Amino acid sequence: MEHTSQSNKDQDEQAKIEAQLEKLREKYDVMGQDLSSYLDGLLYANYLNYWDYIHIDTLLSLQNPKTDFPDENIFIIYHQITELYFKLILLEMEQIANRKQIDEDFFLTRLRRINRYFKHLTDSFEIMVDGMDKDQFLKFRMSLLPASGFQSAQFREIEICATDLQHLVSKEFREQLTPATPISEMMQHLYWKQGATELATGKKTLTLKKFESKYMPRMTRLAKDRQNSNLWSIYKNHFYQAFNHREIVEALRTFDALVNINWRLSHFKSAVRYLQNDPNVISATGGTNWQKYLPPRFQIQIFYPELWSEDEKENWGRGFFKELIEGIGV
Ligand code: HEM
Repeated sequence: MEHTSQSNKDQDEQAKIEAQLEKLREKYDVMGQDLSSYLDGLLYANYLNYWDYIHIDTLLSLQNPKTDFPDENIFIIYHQITELYFKLILLEMEQIANRKQIDEDFFLTRLRRINRYFKHLTDSFEIMVDGMDKDQFLKFRMSLLPASGFQSAQFREIEICATDLQHLVSKEFREQLTPATPISEMMQHLYWKQGATELATGKKTLTLKKFESKYMPRMTRLAKDRQNSNLWSIYKNHFYQAFNHREIVEALRTFDALVNINWRLSHFKSAVRYLQNDPNVISATGGTNWQKYLPPRFQIQIFYPELWSEDEKENWGRGFFKELIEGIGV
């Protein structure tokens, strides 16, 4: 009895392998490839290991402090962690932009993923605010000039993929915009260029000049590509009257608040904690007035002004957006 059931099992297994072989033959035939050679490859290939797949050795070799202060490692690693989250966010934005026929579920699921990433980034900023020795920070930062998180290209790409470019230009230039204003001209007037202008002379800081020369062509290309596939234009073109319109609006408002209020406030808290009374601050930041530039209540950067009431916009950045973020079920 047992013998029969074992031989049935063997036959099932054999049939399964034959079916798999047939599928493989079809797969390789289509490409004009010889299946038998690929099976040899499978025979000789090593087993995959975690450390190879995740590239652990490479990953852990990417921290190269400029000084011997141990806390500089925290600074480097937390920036790297943030950039990886930015990459996750951009991957979601790319999926949304490339989707041929986008439906509400797909959009909402990806948007909620993005919100979870940004929420996590905002919460984890405590690692910066409380996690480094201030005296060490004030010393090692002098070896890092003129580098600044301001030069994070991925952060700027997230902004470009989030909304129409007109919402990213400076307030003054916004008044002169017409529907015919070319993208290349808007790119000259992005709001953040004001954050890297020397207080005394009104000239661009070295930090900004370096960033522009490396990244502006790529940013302009992305802005053109995303003209009709940023989150806002997809919402306007597809989901303005969607069945679960309210949920989509809530997710977009949450994203806006997470980036433009909560993350910025957490980041600003770090700047205050470490730089407030620093005598080197003007020279170290290239003379930018970060206290006037960084706080969201002065910056009033909003991705989706159409989704906020006048009152909400007037009070923009005056405190974390707790109710919204806690009630979203991200
Ligand atoms: C102790 C920690 C930090 C301090 C003291 C700090 C300080 C500053 C300052 C002073 C600026 C204004 C521009 C300048 O003068 O360079 C700035 C901009 C910026 N930083 Fe940081 N930062 C810190 C951590 C981070 C981290 C972890 C990131 C993550 C990538 C980051 C990303 C940015 C971005 C994206 C901007 C531009 C913001 C905007 O244009 O509104 N910073 N930071």
